[in-house]
Amino acid sequence: MEHSRIPEKQGISTIHRAARLSVAPMMDWTDRHCRYVHRLLSGQALLYTEMVTAPALVRGGALHLLSYSPEEHPVALQLGGSDPEELALAARFGAEAGYDEINLNCGCPSDRVQSGTFGAVLMKDPIRVAECVTAMAEAVDVEVTVKCRIGVDEQHPEEILPGFLDHIRTAGCHRVTIHARKAWLQGLSPKENRDIPPLDYDLVHGMKAAFPDLHISLNGGITSLDQVRAHLDAGLDGVMIGRAAYHQPTDILAEADPLIFGTGKVADPIEVVQKMVPYVERHLVEGGRLHQITRHMLGLFAGRPGARAWRRALSEGAVHDGAGPEVMLQALERVAPLAEV
Ligand SMILES: Cc1cc2nc3c(=O)[nH]c(=O)nc-3n(C[C@H](O)[C@H](O)[C@H](O)COP(=O)(O)O)c2cc1C
Repeated sequence: MEHSRIPEKQGISTIHRAARLSVAPMMDWTDRHCRYVHRLLSGQALLYTEMVTAPALVRGGALHLLSYSPEEHPVALQLGGSDPEELALAARFGAEAGYDEINLNCGCPSDRVQSGTFGAVLMKDPIRVAECVTAMAEAVDVEVTVKCRIGVDEQHPEEILPGFLDHIRTAGCHRVTIHARKAWLQGLSPKENRDIPPLDYDLVHGMKAAFPDLHISLNGGITSLDQVRAHLDAGLDGVMIGRAAYHQPTDILAEADPLIFGTGKVADPIEVVQKMVPYVERHLVEGGRLHQITRHMLGLFAGRPGARAWRRALSEGAVHDGAGPEVMLQALERVAPLAEV
């Protein structure tokens, strides 16, 4: 197999380390407020944006979609698209905005995305994906990565995935995240496509054995740091977590720094709430609403005493006109005394 030269890219060793544990790109969920909360829970994990489409940036001029807080680093921008020139330009916008990595979405099965030939349907066209990666990698100094499925529709993953990985590696992608299940482009909703096609972790481990020079992260169905550790110990380079990181952020991220990265201390969700106060105040001054931030904090105490009272106080209080950080602090009073018992 032909190997491409690993290009000199900015900050590769730092971000490869951060990618030992990453929080998945999730539309409408991993916006900048969500990432800020996650960053307070883990100083080390790699955070991904929601997918931003290249046409929205390039044709729509929607550069506000690239806004983020400097505290979010290391943070990766995920792009959707299939036109190499457009993706190259969008990648450049992302790099100029300071993102640490530009990721190409080859895994999203939604109808809207299929119609624009983005996302998982690209698993059928590795040559096109390689052209996109080449154009993006030439346009930016930061690393260009891919997030993909193991296959789509009638494809046989064990047959097509090695060829797909070989194409993108030759094109200049040296880090890939593999959602370890197929996507069915017809007949299943995007939500069903995250649950119904069976997970094949062995295949992803097999890809690491076949491509030892590729940095490979596994994604799909991971719900604990113990599972993360097991996959890392078995030879994978990284694990990406989506839904569990969103719904139980403290379980996944609070112990990540000491347990996965060997540095730092366990984060306390009560302190995270307190640290959110100045962030919320800034957001309100800029005309934002409390709920836009606190909707991502509902799971902070999941599985802990007071979790239900916290969720309720926060979700009910945050939607009122003029609601401010005091809503968060009052909700915290329902949790804090219990947590100290
Ligand atoms: C609400 C939601 C939105 C998502 N949006 C994206 C997206 O924008 N880009 C993407 O590559 N994957 C997206 N995904 C898929 C996740 O990144 C991830 O691959 C999937 O949820 C499987 O991981 P998990 O089992 O850890 O959740 C989304 C998932 C959810 C639940």
